[in-house]
Formats: sequence, structure tokens, C-alpha cells
Amino acid sequence: GAAELGPYRHYMQKEIFEQPRVIGDTLEGVTGIMPELFGDGAFAVFKKIDRVLILACGTSYYAGLTAKYWIESVAKVPVSVEIASEYRYRDSVPHPDTLVVTITQSGETADTLAALKHARSLGMEHTLTICNVSTSAMVRECKLAYITRAGVEVGVASTKAFTTQLAALFLLTLTLAQVNGRLTDAEEAEHLKQMRHLPVALAAVLALEPQIIAWADDFARKENALFLGRGIHYPIALEGALKLKEISYIHAEAYPAGELKHGPLALVTEEMPVVTIAPNDALLEKLKSNMQEVRARGGQLYVFADVDSRITSGDGLHVIRLPEHYGLLSPILHVAALQLLAYHTALARGTDVDKPRNLAKSVTVE
Ligand code: G6P
Repeated sequence: GAAELGPYRHYMQKEIFEQPRVIGDTLEGVTGIMPELFGDGAFAVFKKIDRVLILACGTSYYAGLTAKYWIESVAKVPVSVEIASEYRYRDSVPHPDTLVVTITQSGETADTLAALKHARSLGMEHTLTICNVSTSAMVRECKLAYITRAGVEVGVASTKAFTTQLAALFLLTLTLAQVNGRLTDAEEAEHLKQMRHLPVALAAVLALEPQIIAWADDFARKENALFLGRGIHYPIALEGALKLKEISYIHAEAYPAGELKHGPLALVTEEMPVVTIAPNDALLEKLKSNMQEVRARGGQLYVFADVDSRITSGDGLHVIRLPEHYGLLSPILHVAALQLLAYHTALARGTDVDKPRNLAKSVTVE
């Protein structure tokens, strides 16, 4: 009811603004890296496995794609990420030393549960879930679990469940890295420090809301949008496009920016807003040349940069600068900005933000 919403107009907006708190809650009690945070016997399992298979649907799948970048770069463990509804029906090559990780807000998604059972039927017994509901079927079915503490998520379009999943997956990354002897004490301390800083950093990103509202007023008049990211921000571009589609009904597609020239550039005209996630990382210079390709065709660029990106607004180039440089955790901060963009665009279009047409919060049938 209205009382629960407080100053917010929709649950989605309230849930976006709850993120600093619920990420703090999800990481509460993490005083250091301790495998047993993932359940009894986790250390032995993490020692034994030599690869990771992530299974999920929807937004949770994009959390998995993000985690692949983290786990492979920090823990040096190979990761594959599969859409649950595809994995369960295809012939794949199982390996017993796989850590099967399901990611699910509800813990009840039929395809994800079926994919888990399929993996087990192929002889993969090391199972872990990152789940928001401790009493769910998924938590009962998996040997290990990390419970995110997003609290009840009402908005059909997932927001706080996603960022708490990412926080838990970052912790999993550090844990696998430590078990594999990939972290010095100094690196571990630095990562943990960055992780603990997330709530404060996220609150500062959410404070950019007025600037994002100004962009949303432009977006509300469009019927198409392109989202670009590179590397670890490609999954975040996918999630940003999904959010916009789900609640504003604007057709949005995400591309890794290097693929632009292999097709989507044909779509770019003055009518096509191109949202670009452009933090200062190793790929920024490449991304700038992708942005130039868009500008040369008259495309309007809407760039989320960070404090170090050295990109300034100009003709057809709109920049919102996130206040810090976030390193590995950058996806969590950038996605919050994209959530606000989708929310305010939908608001301007007058759609039913919390209950978008044709969609369900939890899909418990195939
Ligand atoms: C539905 C929801 C999405 C969610 C997906 C997976 O499609 O609308 O927001 O990402 O299911 O749900 P899960 O509970 O497994 O994370």
C-alpha cells in the first residue's frame, strides 16, 4: 500500500533506492573471506572443483555473465554460463569436478530448478545457489547456498535482487581465489575494502537521479535504443536494455561495442539513442572509437562515464559522470544508473511500472 511506499511512487523506485542498505545486509558479517559462508563443507568443495557452470534465467542470467568475468580474472577458474531453459534441453559435456551455481531471486523458477536436476543427472554433485529466499525449493535442492538479503522484491523488473546477487558473486570470486592461492593478503584486504565501500558508493550514484530524469524525458519519445558496453560492462548493457524493454516497452538491444560494425551500425540514425557504459578501464580507448562510429552516423550518444573517463559532453554526446572510479565492482554501480534510466523513461510514458504487461515476477511453469 501507499504507506509502505513512503516517498516513492512505485515499488521499483523504492527497491532501487534500497540497494545501498540491502547490499550492506547481504555482506553483513563478512569479516573476511571464509568459505563456510557458503555452507558447511564449502571449503572441501571449493578445493575440489576446477570449473564453474552457472545456470539462471532473465536478470539472474546477466548476474552470471558478470560473474564469469570476475571469477576468470581474479580466481582463474574457467566459467561457463548457460540460460537454464537451453541447458536443460541440449547435449552437453559434463565434468564431475564442476561447481554448479544456480542464481535465482525466487528460488522457484521452473527452468532453473530443472536445469539443476539435469546437471545432477549428468553426475555433477557440487551444487551452490545464490538465492534470495532461504525457504525456497532451490535452497533445499542445493548442497551449498548463499542467501542474498534483498528482502521481498515486489517490482516485476528485478533491481535489488540483481545487485545483491552481484555482491554475493563477488564474494564467491574472492573465496574461490583465496582457496586457489590466487590472492595475496594485501589484495584480499583491498578487495574487501572496495566491497565494503559499495553501499556508500551506490548511494552517491543514486543521487544522480535528477540528471537521469532529464535523459529519460528524451528517451520516452523514442521507440528504439541501443546499449553498448565492453568487457565486464557488456552484461550490464544487456541488463540495461532488458530493464528498458520490460517496463517502458521501448525496443532495446545491447551489443558489445566492438560488434557494432558487424551489423547494428546499420540501425544508427539521428533517431537512435545509443547508451554507452564507459568507465575508465583498459577498453576505454577502443570504446571511444566505437562512439565515434555512432557520432559519424548522427546517432545520439548517452554516456555513463566514471570520474576518470575523460569524456566531455558535446554535440550529440551527453555525459553523466559517476563520482568515482570503481574498478572491478564497476558493473554494480553502472547498473543502478541504468535502472533509474529505465524507471524514469517508463514513468514518463505512463506504463504500469511495477506490473508490466505479460510478465510475471516468478515463472514457476515451463
Ligand atoms: C522472471 C522475472 C525476472 C527474473 C526471472 C528469473 O522473468 O520477471 O525479473 O529475472 O524471472 O527469476 P529468478 O527468481 O529465478 O531470479
